[in-house]
Amino acid sequence: MPSISPRSPDVLVLGGGIIGLSTAWRAARQGLTTTVVDPAPGRGATHAAAGMLAPVSEVTYTEEPLLRLGLASLARWPEFAAELEAASGHEVDYRTDGMLDVAFGPDDLTALDDLAVFLDKLGLPFERLTGRECRRLEPMLAPSVRGGLLARGDAWVDPRRVTAALLAALDRLGVEVVRRSAAELVPGESGRSVRLDDGEIVTAERIVLAAGAWSGALQGLPPGLMPPVRPVKGQIMRLRSPAPLLGHCVRGTVHGSPVYLVPRGDGEIVLGATQEEMGFDTRVTAGGLWELLRDARELVPGVTELEMCDVVAGLRPGTPDNLPMIGRTALPGLLMATGHHRGGVLLAPLTADLLFGDPLFGDGDGALASACSPDRFKGYV
Ligand code: GLY
Repeated sequence: MPSISPRSPDVLVLGGGIIGLSTAWRAARQGLTTTVVDPAPGRGATHAAAGMLAPVSEVTYTEEPLLRLGLASLARWPEFAAELEAASGHEVDYRTDGMLDVAFGPDDLTALDDLAVFLDKLGLPFERLTGRECRRLEPMLAPSVRGGLLARGDAWVDPRRVTAALLAALDRLGVEVVRRSAAELVPGESGRSVRLDDGEIVTAERIVLAAGAWSGALQGLPPGLMPPVRPVKGQIMRLRSPAPLLGHCVRGTVHGSPVYLVPRGDGEIVLGATQEEMGFDTRVTAGGLWELLRDARELVPGVTELEMCDVVAGLRPGTPDNLPMIGRTALPGLLMATGHHRGGVLLAPLTADLLFGDPLFGDGDGALASACSPDRFKGYV
């Protein structure tokens, strides 16, 4: 039997990953009463994410709009991290030492050369390094590394620390985090309503669908508004190093397969990540971990000596064009913040600003907002 909730926030955020929590924090800082619903906040894709803030070194040729979004969000990260640390009292391990993209075989080196030409054409800053220069920067790299590209502007952060900080900052602002699932969107008398899995109905002026790979599971979405989000599995492992192994994030392509190693301030190294189209499967497999270790060992042989302390698989929310869905929908009061695929951590500050920031949109931000408008998929599913 549905029960009408005493809660009636201005903003109800469905999903407590880094996107939902950042959005809720932004809304609450604007003075809006805000509630988040998630059965296990921070335990979805964010829990598996390595936290690379690397629009330059992760760029691909066909995805210039995504690059523009990434650069706009990267520019917001220093302030976002500083404000979040101050607001929560938690450190987030935000690091700005740059990303070193290295090549192993001749084909990988050709791909890196092509990337350098592309970045040059876009006017993006990078340094091209020989294998020896790469090893001077990172002595643990294998002698077989043939060359590299250093993107000094790229950064990284610890997503698990960011979620802990966001939850603490939300708590200080009086934002309630309801540890349940949202089941269905239902018509409400004032605003929009959502039925939770225990039957409680919460009504809000604005509802933000930020449920990552599960965004399409909300019942009651009008025909044509179902977000075309699919799960893209990523397996990742955490290794513990007794002494710092790397000073930069290292990303490489080994015989065509991408792999990355992200050092944390506490000595951990995050090694990731597979990209698998396996539906809602979050099993960690021997084959997935073997591939990651095989490729990482080619770049940094010492990784196999490290203690393995955690393995996890997360589900990235992929969209048909790899761009997120951020903004208003055709249904008044329903907003979306989903489909961030490989870029949820990077794009969190921009997403929160696009939804609840000050009316900041200059020409550039207006173009960004339309690139990720949910309307582009109207009627897709
Ligand atoms: N952003 C890195 C990944 O999704 O694996």
